[in-house]
Amino acid sequence: PLPASCDLMLFGALGNLARKKLFPALYQLDRAGLLAENSRILAIARRDLSLEEMRAGLIENLKAAVADDEFDPELAASFAARVDYQLLDFTDTAAFSELNSWRNSENHLIVYMATPPAMYGEIARNLKDQSCCTARTRVVVEKPIGHDLASSKVINDALAEVYDESQLFRIDHYLGKETVQNLIALRFANNLFASQWDQNHISHVEITVAESTGIDGRWGYFDKAGQVRDMIQNHLLQLLCLIAMDPPADLSADSIRDEKVKILKALKRITPDMMGQYVVRGQYAAGASNGKVVPGYLEEDGADKASLTETFVALKVEIDNWRWSGVPFYIRTGKRMPEKMAQIIIHFKPAPHYIFDPDQKHLANNKLIIRLQPDEGMALKILTKEHGLDKGMRLRQGPLELTFSETFGAERIPDAYERLLWEVMRGSQYLFVRRDEVEHAWRWVDQIIQNWHDLGEPPKRYAAGTWGPVASIALITRDGRSWYEDV
Ligand code: BG6
Repeated sequence: PLPASCDLMLFGALGNLARKKLFPALYQLDRAGLLAENSRILAIARRDLSLEEMRAGLIENLKAAVADDEFDPELAASFAARVDYQLLDFTDTAAFSELNSWRNSENHLIVYMATPPAMYGEIARNLKDQSCCTARTRVVVEKPIGHDLASSKVINDALAEVYDESQLFRIDHYLGKETVQNLIALRFANNLFASQWDQNHISHVEITVAESTGIDGRWGYFDKAGQVRDMIQNHLLQLLCLIAMDPPADLSADSIRDEKVKILKALKRITPDMMGQYVVRGQYAAGASNGKVVPGYLEEDGADKASLTETFVALKVEIDNWRWSGVPFYIRTGKRMPEKMAQIIIHFKPAPHYIFDPDQKHLANNKLIIRLQPDEGMALKILTKEHGLDKGMRLRQGPLELTFSETFGAERIPDAYERLLWEVMRGSQYLFVRRDEVEHAWRWVDQIIQNWHDLGEPPKRYAAGTWGPVASIALITRDGRSWYEDV
């Protein structure tokens, strides 16, 4: 059933996120018939625009943001008619009372803060005394929640002054990706895997999230963050948790989040003496991307030439618990890699006794490949015999392949933000991050950042368009393994 009609107040409605992700996602929900008839959106920003100007800009933007065959001018116009505009200075407490008159009290109120996180507290406080804001209001906030544990607590405390944790929806958009959700189905609906999912059967796990773009004109934000804060603290640790967590008792938000927190608490601390073996930090230099020469990080527009910010990081992560003892998780993520790609590889242990050609022993382990993007799907590499009388019992590794778009038809895979907004409208928090998850993740990454600071070690350079510094290859080959390459 459709969730009840919603009033969505969108703070920061003219910003990047709203333009690129939120309005296109809301349009797609409308197109799919998933926005209840009376649902409305209040775009709130600081620019002086008339309603007509805002709506015209919105339609132009939708035209550019959605696929040609998904853009329907009539629907775009009727979608835009759901959207009103409010000019507002987010720091002007008195002005917030203007929001009350827009509100339809029969609709569920959703407040989406697509603003710099430093504003969350102030917006929350300014909303607090408005009649439009009630104990049933749902509040959506984006990462980054702070830039370390201490600053994340300040933001979380400010939100907690006004809202109960059950009202807060902290977005990690990776949790809205189709394949990421499928991890839950794969692991807990298929007993075949459930019984193999531990240190008795798995030797190691790889997670790669690569992007071919650089920092896309976001120097100001990115240079203060770096790849560990921008990607590891949230997206990669969330993926790791979904792979590593114990089976939740049910699909409720707290059952799932309780299990994720146990993993975050069990992450082995990386002490200064371990850094050389466990952490590689890189920064891209000039190189080539998609056949074009591209500048290095320090030559990007607005760059501080002395910046030590990392654009790549590779880590060996260990989880100190019963299930994962002795099973390293090798994770890497970077900008200006050869392609945009995100995948997880589960390497199963070989059979205990090997009876085939000794030259082929290196082939003899199963791998489960989970592709998040592009070509969402999964492949299980299994061993079979080569065809032909003269081949004897020579082995061949081949995939049992499940590409979602091929197997399940040409059905469109919704963007992460569509799913996440839909879940907010349904009032379901299971794809959102709880406060203690954010804080445990910060606690773990803070020590790595502190070690870099204390050791004063600069990032290693890698040419744009490559898979990162050579040291990231050594990180895994040192253990007699290599990053997976599909051949
Ligand atoms: C964001 C990061 O959270 O995720 C960006 O801030 C990054 O730096 C982006 O580019 C990657 O998301 P996706 O969905 O394109 O893999």
